[in-house]
Amino acid sequence: MKALITGINGFVGRYLAEHLITLGFEVSGTTRSSSTMINSHKVNIINNDLSSIKAITELLNITKPDHIYHLAGQSNVRYSWDNIEETFQTNTIKTINLLEAIKLSTICKNTKILTVGSSEEYGPTTTLPVDEETILQPSNPYGLSKSSLFMIGKLYYHSFGLQIIHARPFNHIGPFQSLGFVTADFAKQVVDIEKGIQSPLIKVGNLNSQRDFTDVRDIVIAYYDLLADGEFGQVYNICSSKPVLIRDILKYLISQCTRNIEVQIDETKFRPVDIPIYIGSNEKIRKKVGWSPKISIEESLDDILDYWRKK
Ligand code: GDD
Repeated sequence: MKALITGINGFVGRYLAEHLITLGFEVSGTTRSSSTMINSHKVNIINNDLSSIKAITELLNITKPDHIYHLAGQSNVRYSWDNIEETFQTNTIKTINLLEAIKLSTICKNTKILTVGSSEEYGPTTTLPVDEETILQPSNPYGLSKSSLFMIGKLYYHSFGLQIIHARPFNHIGPFQSLGFVTADFAKQVVDIEKGIQSPLIKVGNLNSQRDFTDVRDIVIAYYDLLADGEFGQVYNICSSKPVLIRDILKYLISQCTRNIEVQIDETKFRPVDIPIYIGSNEKIRKKVGWSPKISIEESLDDILDYWRKK
């Protein structure tokens, strides 16, 4: 079996590639730059930024994928407020290019496609946990772009019969996640303080929100399980269903450090709108494919700290 991962060099791409290789897949992946990932010798990396339908068609002709995992995208909520056009170009127009190329391709008739959205598609809701029937009312440019991506996939499923499943992962974390996401931002500062390269003062944003965290290593298992056993045209939340207060993440990370750390709220890290609480229901994916997360939040945070200690 052959798999194509768009955005393979990203945080999730490297883990998904490893998982698919373990399952015996021949893995290819697109990247925007020539930078290489850890196990690049095991995967076929192709420079393609998904901006040309013709170039994507050539890519499909070469790679002949049975599975396509569309991970490429702009994933930073904070960044999307200041870069709306780029966020839409990357998350929606490039998705149209990819699906259009698949539609026109003669060799992708049976290819299964996973589009990746976000819990940010839901926006504020009073009914918790959030299930897949919840009305979409995204409240930031990133969430809006991901809900548009979802609608685009729906259109290609209904109108052209593309075999698409839409994943809606909630917050996912792990080693190798870049700065700009909460656990990486906190862990890096804690480790810099440990190493003595930062004074014992940590700067943080809004500590009062609650998020539903899942380790990236569990997330990629769900992605494969969905293409293996999920139903086309359906959307599945991927989450732990356990809310965690951002303040508690900070407390845990600080508790793992031997030094006393002072916390300073930095208002420049706040967003125009920040959803106070996200908890997802994972009942649909559990029932359909039998997936559930295995890695605890403490294990994830310990591994994230180790990653920054060794970096
Ligand atoms: N990034 C960051 N940095 N967030 C902070 C900080 C900080 O120093 N301090 C507090 N926060 C708060 C944010 O305001 C937010 O309420 C929460 O921590 C989580 O922020 P992020 O880690 O940036 O994640 P997100 O919830 O905005 O978005 C993530 O999850 C989505 C799924 O729900 C991203 O991974 C998205 O790509 C993903 O789709």
